Amino acid sequence: MLILDGKIASAAIKERLKKEVEIITGSGKRPPHLAAILVGNNGASETYVASKVKQCAEIGFVSTLIRLEETVSEEILLKHIHDLNTNDSVDGILVQLPLPKHITEQKVIEAIHPAKDVDGFHPVSAGKLVQGLPTFIPATPYGIMLMLEHYNVETKGKNAVVIGRSNIVGRPMSILLSSNIKYGNCTVTICHSHTYNLDELCSKADIVVAALGRPEFVKAHMVKEGAIVIDVGITRVEDASAKKGFRIKGDVDYAAVAPKTSAITPVPGGVGLMTIAGLLKNTLQAYRQSH
Ligand code: GUN
Repeated sequence: MLILDGKIASAAIKERLKKEVEIITGSGKRPPHLAAILVGNNGASETYVASKVKQCAEIGFVSTLIRLEETVSEEILLKHIHDLNTNDSVDGILVQLPLPKHITEQKVIEAIHPAKDVDGFHPVSAGKLVQGLPTFIPATPYGIMLMLEHYNVETKGKNAVVIGRSNIVGRPMSILLSSNIKYGNCTVTICHSHTYNLDELCSKADIVVAALGRPEFVKAHMVKEGAIVIDVGITRVEDASAKKGFRIKGDVDYAAVAPKTSAITPVPGGVGLMTIAGLLKNTLQAYRQSH
């Protein structure tokens, strides 16, 4: 069983990105610049955004973090996005989700200029992905594709089951795996809350991508011997014995499932780290497209 290690794969990608930035700045140009907006004090969002900012610095990107109160109006948030859209020194914009209930997420997603949409959530980016055109791929599915590439995992012709149909992970993942690309060409089934025979579909799959956000949902009986399992879950589960009072759990019952697989991503230390690598690659792409 091969552990698809996000630490190793993301470090290799970041090393390459760092060298590219050195070449850019060595030629007298400014480095790529990512602007992140964080609304409110959601603990998990704080952690993710802090990690994105830190990893920008590690590879020589500039980053700006705009923190807004939980009570900020939609109008003011949209004004910040507009300012970043028209700021030539900013290449990529991300607004960390989820947003407070009084703000319409879709409006915010659509306010980001598609040329700076490094999260790939804008309908223009999503539409291009569906049509196989060059675009910004949402960071998590992009990170998973980079992981498959790093470990040269053969996907062609395989049956893949994607559990979850979110715009952030499940749906774009299903499109990528079914696309005619190097780590695609799978026959893909998308499972969701209305799927009748999820256990059976899953147990026949060569590749399982679990992206539903339910800790340890995928059990051993749902996984075929020798399958490849990609765990996208990162749920905080209360645990008084843990230093922070919680533990991060994936969507896969790792201890029981891992021995049956040919390759599996751990949680933590798997897909989560690759997500940031995907975002950084998108930011460099945005930079290159505007220069
Ligand atoms: N919330 C959960 N995942 C993501 C992500 O990839 N990008 C943003 N902006 N918010 C998220």
